[in-house]
Amino acid sequence: MTASEYIPDGADLETLRKAAGECRGCDLYRHATQAVFGAGPGDARVVMIGEQPGDREDVVGQPFVGPAGRLLNRALAEAAIDRSMVYLTNAVKHFKFEERGKRRIHQQPGRTEIVACRPWLEAELAVVRPELVVCLGAVAARSIFGPSFRVTRQRGEVIALEDYRAAATVHPSAVLRAPDRDGAYAEFLGDLRAMRTAMD
Ligand code: URA
Ligand code: SF4
Repeated sequence: MTASEYIPDGADLETLRKAAGECRGCDLYRHATQAVFGAGPGDARVVMIGEQPGDREDVVGQPFVGPAGRLLNRALAEAAIDRSMVYLTNAVKHFKFEERGKRRIHQQPGRTEIVACRPWLEAELAVVRPELVVCLGAVAARSIFGPSFRVTRQRGEVIALEDYRAAATVHPSAVLRAPDRDGAYAEFLGDLRAMRTAMD
């Protein structure tokens, strides 16, 4: 099972977004509130890829509107990466979670779901055609660079791929969870600044 059969050919972002709402390419649509498609201008220079929508994103229907998104916004501003340059999306479009009482606990998407959902990411990249793809965390990085990529070893490095350049850093949620949050934030910001410089 993959998303391919749900993706209209040659569609623009708005049409893709609507189609993603009907995707049954893996089982995650069953429990999530809605698909959370990418957001941002179709002519963005940068595509940033997170993991999957979180609890807040699942409810609102927009990527990065919760705590991780707030941290990301702050870092983008500090790295002088204007939001109008950025199309934000996720490797997986539906929220995967486990119910514990009233709480919904985030679960990492598995290989099957990442692979199933990858055609949506490819469709977004084909429309936006960014100069730079920024992977936020290991799930996005493995989706773009392959399973042997290690964020800890290669973070901040800008790598030329066939259609665009790409780089990876940690996920903003990992910064929020880090024991030394200020240090982790400074490193995250350093990576984003290096990527910003590579675009000049
Ligand atoms: N984390 C992600 O990876 N993506 C979101 O959209 C929100 C949190
Ligand atoms: Fe389709 Fe991706 Fe949602 Fe799975 S997670 S149903 S592949 S949009």
